[in-house]
Amino acid sequence: MISVFGSANMDLVAYVDQAPKLGETVTGRAFHTIPGGKGANQAIAAARAGAEVAFLGAVGDDGFGIALRAVLVEAGIEVSLLRQLPGASGIAHIVVDGGGANSIIVVPGANGEVKSLTPADEAMIAASQALLLQLELPMEAVTEAALAARAAGVPVILTPAPSQPLPDALLDAVTLLVPNEHEAADLTGSPDPAQALDLLLDRVPEAVVTLGSKGALYGSRTGDRLRVAAIPVQAVDTTAAGDTFVGALAVARAEGLVPAEALRFASVAAALSVQKAGASTSMPHRAEIDAAR
Ligand code: RIB
Repeated sequence: MISVFGSANMDLVAYVDQAPKLGETVTGRAFHTIPGGKGANQAIAAARAGAEVAFLGAVGDDGFGIALRAVLVEAGIEVSLLRQLPGASGIAHIVVDGGGANSIIVVPGANGEVKSLTPADEAMIAASQALLLQLELPMEAVTEAALAARAAGVPVILTPAPSQPLPDALLDAVTLLVPNEHEAADLTGSPDPAQALDLLLDRVPEAVVTLGSKGALYGSRTGDRLRVAAIPVQAVDTTAAGDTFVGALAVARAEGLVPAEALRFASVAAALSVQKAGASTSMPHRAEIDAAR
């Protein structure tokens, strides 16, 4: 089983030809309300890619919370430890332009109230094959989860998004760090992804720097270096492509695929996801991934 300790957001998505500049009003093409959140997205991606998944986090006691829980349950994800807290669920205000690129504002809501692990969370993490983390829950809780996993010998896969400085205690507990090229530059000060990868490997045993339509770079402290090409597709909406990549990558690693195969599996899943609109609406099922790899 793979555990995901992270955020669930209701995504409020406006599709436009061109994103508005500051002070500008533009007319959109469509608006959708779609379950998302980096944590929930990774959980759904991993479940659809074939893993048993537990999702740990929080939703509010509003209608969005009910819908977010329902989409996780529908994906077959274990949600017995998903808290329902008084107040609003997390939301993400997303603008997707005509080229499929997005900009996102997250308002944490219930996610921001998850400040520590419960004993049941800790037990679930300790019983997992891997723990997936992102940075849309409070940093102290993310760090506590990483330390609990490390204490139990469970590999920790961290997506350092939204970008922010990482405490040493968290980085020390990470097995595999998966930043995009901007996050890698923020973490290392190097705008060159290959150099950033080398610098990250001074801190963590393995890292993947994702490069969007340019693919991904993988490295490990044992000396492996790999570049995987992205699968060329026409992107409709890149929202949650990174989350899909990480969820699928975790499944491939849990199934014992070697890095080159695992990266290919994850790249195929991400390429399938960008061809559909939305977050939880875009992640492929295992049969689709297998047919395309
Ligand atoms: O990574 C994509 C996700 O970021 C969206 O689903 C949104 O909720 C934000 O968390």
